[in-house]
Parts: sequence; structure tokens; C-alpha cells
Amino acid sequence: MTKRYELSELIRGDNFIDGEWVAAVAGKRFDVTNPATGEVIREVADSDTADARAATDAAARAFPAWRDALARDRAAVLHRWHALMVENADALGRLISLEQGKPFAEGRGEVMYGASYVAWFADEATRIYGDLIPQQQRGKRMSAIKEPVGIVAAITPWNFPLAMIARKIAPALAAGCTVVAKPAEDTPLTALALAMLADEAGVPPGVLNLISASRDNAMPAVADWLADNRVRKVTFTGSTPVGKYLARASADTLKKLSLELGGNAPFIVFDDADLEAAVTGLLAAKFRNGGQTCVSPNRVYVHSGVYERFADLLATRVAALKVAPASDPAAQIGPMINERAIDKITRHVDDAVSRGARVLTGGKRLAELGPNYYAPTVLADATPDMHMSCDETFGPVVPLFRFDDEAEAIGAANDTLFGLASYFYSQDVRRIDRVARQLEAGIVGINEGILASEAAPFGGVKESGYGREGSKYGLDDYLSIKYLCQGGLE
Ligand code: SIN
Repeated sequence: MTKRYELSELIRGDNFIDGEWVAAVAGKRFDVTNPATGEVIREVADSDTADARAATDAAARAFPAWRDALARDRAAVLHRWHALMVENADALGRLISLEQGKPFAEGRGEVMYGASYVAWFADEATRIYGDLIPQQQRGKRMSAIKEPVGIVAAITPWNFPLAMIARKIAPALAAGCTVVAKPAEDTPLTALALAMLADEAGVPPGVLNLISASRDNAMPAVADWLADNRVRKVTFTGSTPVGKYLARASADTLKKLSLELGGNAPFIVFDDADLEAAVTGLLAAKFRNGGQTCVSPNRVYVHSGVYERFADLLATRVAALKVAPASDPAAQIGPMINERAIDKITRHVDDAVSRGARVLTGGKRLAELGPNYYAPTVLADATPDMHMSCDETFGPVVPLFRFDDEAEAIGAANDTLFGLASYFYSQDVRRIDRVARQLEAGIVGINEGILASEAAPFGGVKESGYGREGSKYGLDDYLSIKYLCQGGLE
């Protein structure tokens, strides 16, 4: 029977290294707070380089046995981990809401979303095939086999505290890698709870090691992994500046990298679109996690022929969204993660308004609800000189830009350093084919706002990074190819 835990039993405050719960070597701790209230939920280990090194030592010791484990045994462990996540989806969902702020329905949804990657990669573990290369010379046999890259360092963000770490650890473990991981300082509790469930699922000691660190200590701890030759891969989801730092700092040890970085997603509404469907799709894509999502539409381009109608429909639906703490069952948008997030949203909206944007709804903090709330906002008459046109707002703000023809819309959509997600709505099949091919993005939503799935490749182009998570491609980032050439066969 898969064990079900109370929320309080899932909250851990120590590091998980070599199958043990241990305090930080220096004995330091830092507070994890509830973004809805600012109250402390729990103190956790404030790790530094000594803890990072201990995690790597454990991962190095565990690697040979895990690499050599039968694929079906690794798969069985991952399936048990998946079952534990599903069985504990309510408690994990509440934990996500508590430390990250998203409404409970979204928190629970995230558990099922993250768990789906674990089930997917459990199955993929048993399908890591190589190739027998057609014979080129008599007496010689050539083949290619796939091997785990080695120790993987996983560094994960606060916006999806469960899904992002699950979709890195699962393929790593499936491939036969061992893992050292550091979740974001805002939301380490969900990751620690996952480590607890992984332990119960039978992940052997040292195969998964997880440390938490405050904002001040995180970089030194991670730097230890970057400089360590035993760590062969870094997988990161987060901002582009940090991704660039990781790429530079791991160059000396030539690690393999997967970087899922910032986006600045365009969302185009053509004049032949089903406007009701486009509004529904935009709401789903934009307000998931209150807009704190890398694939969140950041720039909405609407054809001038349907601009006013679309703006009206959208503003009416956005004004009706319920902003409330995660504890309110009717909540659709919770608090933003912290004060810095609120400051950035406020700066972006103020800048847009000062440059001529019209506030159709929202445009202000909701201080009466708590420290980190911002009203869902629609801005009309957005223009390319506004900060939000080139920088992700990462909040519940929709700027509406106007365009007159397809080429102009595509040019504007691609006029960004980033290329993670993009979206468009049109009912013209020829246009759909043309636009989908021309958009510079790793992911394109066509008449659809919710794109992510464990069965699909998730990742970007340009400065949104490289590597893919999920799908049949997702394991490649954790494997290297070895060519075997056997002679003397005749
Ligand atoms: C992200 O915001 O980085 C991930 C979003 C997703 O998985 O859809």
C-alpha cells in the first residue's frame, strides 16, 4: 500500500544527502515564508560549499551501482515514486500553495503534472536503445550504445516547485545518472518533500541528494558543483542571466548543459480568429500561476480590425478573476512570490502608462489582501518602447499591441532575444502553416493556450536556452553515446 502523509509530516528542514537528513555543516538555517502573509513556515538548512561537496561525494559513490542497475529496476523505483506523489497529491498541493502561493487547485494540478513526467521517464528508462551499425568492413562490428552522463546538478526555480525538479530528476534517474539538486530559496519545502518520497520509493542512498541554500549562499554552493569535474551535467530552469553564468562557469570542466531560460512569449490574434476562443486561450496561458510562468504570453498582438472587440471581451473576463489567498477555494490568482516580483510588475505597469498605455482593468497592487498581491491587468495601446515589450513582466499583466498585417505581426513577435513559447489564433489553414513555421520559438501554441505535456518536447531557442524536457527527446540530455568497434571477427 502506498503511504499517505499529513501535510505536517511532509515538511522537512534538513538537507537530504546520502539517504540521510542532515543539518548544514556550518549549522546555519534560513526562513521559508508564506508569500500570502509573510509568515515563516519553517527554517531550513542554509547550505554552502561544504554541503554541496558532501552531496557530490555521495552522488559519486552511488553512481556505479545505479548506472549498472537493470533498466526495469530503475523504472520500478520511479513508478513507486510516481505512485507516492499521486497518493499524496492533496498534501503536496497544499504545500506548494503554502510556500509558492498558487491556488490549491493549481498546486494539486502541478503535482499531477510533475508526477506525469516521473511516470513517463519510468517507462522511457526501459527504452534506452542503441544501434548496431550496418557492417562497413569484413571482420568488424560497429555499434553505438547510450550511457548515463554521470552526476547531474539540477537547479530549479520557485514558480513550479514540484514540476520543475521532478522533470529533471526523473530523466536523470531513468538514464542511470545520480543527482545533486538545489531548489530555489523561496520554495525548497516541496522539493524536500519529494526527496522524502523518493527515499520511501526506494531510491538508493546517494542517488538523489538535495540541499537548500539562502540567496546569499546559493551561488557559492552551486559554484562548487560547477568547478567539480565529477559533475558532468547541469540542468537549470530560471533566468537567462543566471543561465549564462552557469554556461560560463561550467566551461572549464566542459559540462553538458540543459538551460530552460526566460521567455517573452508573443500571442497573436489574427482577424480571422475565433475571438471567444482566443480570449479563453489567453486567460489560460497568461494567468496560470498568476503569470509567473516562462511560457506566459508577455506581448499580445491583436489585428486592428478586431482590436477593440477583443480588448473589451478580454477586459471583462479579466476583471472577473478572483484574486485571493490559496486557502480560499474560489481563488484563481494568488499572491506573487515576493516583494521583488511586485516591484517589477509595478515598474513595468507604471512605465507603460507613462508612455501612453490605457488601463482597461487592474493596474494596481491589492494591498488590502496582503503584501504581494497585484490586480490582474489589461493595458491597451502598448508600444515597443515600453519595458514590458522586451522584458518578461512575470505577473498578471496583459499588454495589447496593435498590428495591421501578418508580416508585421510575425516581425514584431520575433523581435526579441528570446524564443521559448509563442501562440497564435487563426482559422485560416494556410496562414496556420505559414505562421507556425516562421515563429522563432521552441514551442508554438496554435489555437491553444495550454501546451505543456510530459509527452512533448519543452524548451527554447535563442536566449531562451537549449535542451528539451519531456517526450522521447528528454532523455538525450542525460545520456552520452559510446561507439564500440569490435575487430577480429573473421
Ligand atoms: C516554466 O515556467 O518554466 C515551466 C512552465 C511549464 O512547464 O509549462
